Amino acid sequence: MGAGESSRVLVTGASQGIGRAIAMALASRQYFVLGVSRSKPEYLDANRFGWAEQVAWTSLDLSKASAVERYAASLEAFPIRALILSAVDYGDGARHGASTISTSEWQRVIGTNLVGQSVLVSQLLPNLLRTGPGIIINVSSNVAVAPAAGRAAYGASKAGLHAMLRAVAAEHQEEGLRVFQLIPTFQSVTEGIRRRRPVGFDFSSYADPVLLAEVVEGVLSGTGPVVGGTYLIRRDGTLERYEETANL
Ligand SMILES: NC(=O)c1ccc[n+]([C@@H]2O[C@H](COP(=O)([O-])OP(=O)(O)OC[C@H]3O[C@@H](n4cnc5c(N)ncnc54)[C@H](OP(=O)(O)O)[C@@H]3O)[C@@H](O)[C@H]2O)c1
Repeated sequence: MGAGESSRVLVTGASQGIGRAIAMALASRQYFVLGVSRSKPEYLDANRFGWAEQVAWTSLDLSKASAVERYAASLEAFPIRALILSAVDYGDGARHGASTISTSEWQRVIGTNLVGQSVLVSQLLPNLLRTGPGIIINVSSNVAVAPAAGRAAYGASKAGLHAMLRAVAAEHQEEGLRVFQLIPTFQSVTEGIRRRRPVGFDFSSYADPVLLAEVVEGVLSGTGPVVGGTYLIRRDGTLERYEETANL
C-alpha cells in the first residue's frame, strides 16, 4: 500500500495510546489517515511534526450509533483501503467484579467497543470492498479469547467484536477482504492503562505503543503476515498465528 488516495486508512482511537501511535506512524510514512476520537489529537496542533496534512481528524463518539452511521455515510465518495480499530472504553476505574458493574457502564463499554465499532465496520464494508479488497485490523486483546476477571464488560465487548469480525472475514473471504485481529501478549503504556494503575506503578516492563504501530504498518505494507486471521504479537514485535479452530 503506497501513498495517495489508495492509501487512505481510517483509525479509531486516534487521539491517544496505541491508536495515536498508529495514526502518527502511518501519517509520517505518507499514508492518508482519517482519524476519529472524541478529543482532538494534540499532535495535529501547529503541524508539529510536519505531516499533519496527512491526517483528517473528525470528532466522533462511538457510543452514539447514529453519529457513527452519519460519519460512515459521509465517507461514501472516499475509498477507504484499511480500517484500524483501536478505540476502547476500558470501563470504570480499577478492576471490579461483574456484580459491581452498573447498567450505565455496561451500556457505555459495549456501546463503544462493540456496537459503535461494529456499526462502523458494517457501514464501511461496501466501501472497503468497492475498489479492491481492503484490510481490517483490530487491535484486539487476550481478554477476547481468555477469561478476564475483574474486566467482564471490557472482556465481553472485546470478545463480541472479535466474533463479529470473524463473521465478516468468513462472509467476504472470497472477495479478498483480509481481517487481522492482533492480540498483544504484553501491556503497553497508554493513557487508558495509566488511568487504571495506582500512582507510582512501575511501568518498566510495559512496551511503547510504537511497537504495535510498527506491527500494524507491517501488515499494511505487506512486510508482515499477508493472510488474515488472529495473531499473537510477541514482545519482540514478531507475530504468531493463533489457531481458533474449535473442536465442535
Ligand atoms: N494498552 C495495552 O496494554 C493494551 C493491551 C492489549 C490490548 N490493547 C488494546 O489496544 C487498544 C487501544 O488501547 P489503549 O490502551 O491505547 O487505549 P487508550 O489509551 O484508553 O485510548 C483509547 C482511545 O479510544 C478513544 N475512545 C474512547 N472512548 C471513545 C468513544 N466513546 N468514542 C470514540 N473514541 C473513543 C479515545 O479517544 P477519546 O477519549 O478522545 O474519545 C482514545 O483515543 C484497545 O483496543 C485495547 O483493547 C491495549
